[in-house]
Amino acid sequence: MTASFRNCLLVCGVLALGASVAHAEPEPTALIDQQHCMFCHMRDAPFLAPSFQQIAEHYRNVPNAQSMLEHKLRRGGKAHWGDTPMPGAVERGGPLSAADAHTLVQWVLSQ
Ligand code: HEC
Repeated sequence: MTASFRNCLLVCGVLALGASVAHAEPEPTALIDQQHCMFCHMRDAPFLAPSFQQIAEHYRNVPNAQSMLEHKLRRGGKAHWGDTPMPGAVERGGPLSAADAHTLVQWVLSQ
């Protein structure tokens, strides 16, 4: 390993850590309540569904994860984690606008 690569690992690691703290999205509490997210999810431990931290970790480096997840949040879709797919928005508590889906996914991915 070259020194500069090692330095980069160090600096990038620190930056990533800083970013995950500094850029944490404010929690969209009303939307989370209305859509009953916490009925199945917890922030830091798997429950009926993967935790939001697991999801954020899993998709951190996946291109287009944001738009794929927004679509899935609104319409539901096939399971990526186990056998149980997540129900679409209407079954969870009401229709979800594109803007609200965007807010929610941004928050989940910032966990
Ligand atoms: C009825 C239970 C339930 C509710 C309510 C629920 N989820 Fe889920 N969610 C699941 C399950 C089960 C999965 C795993 C699905 C899979 O395997 O892809 C999941 C997966 C996810 C994923 C990852 C999807 C993927 O393709 O990897 C995200 C993001 C997510 N949920 C966000 C939310 C948000 C935000 C809310 C509230 C708006 C919410 N969920 C409400 C059950 C639920």
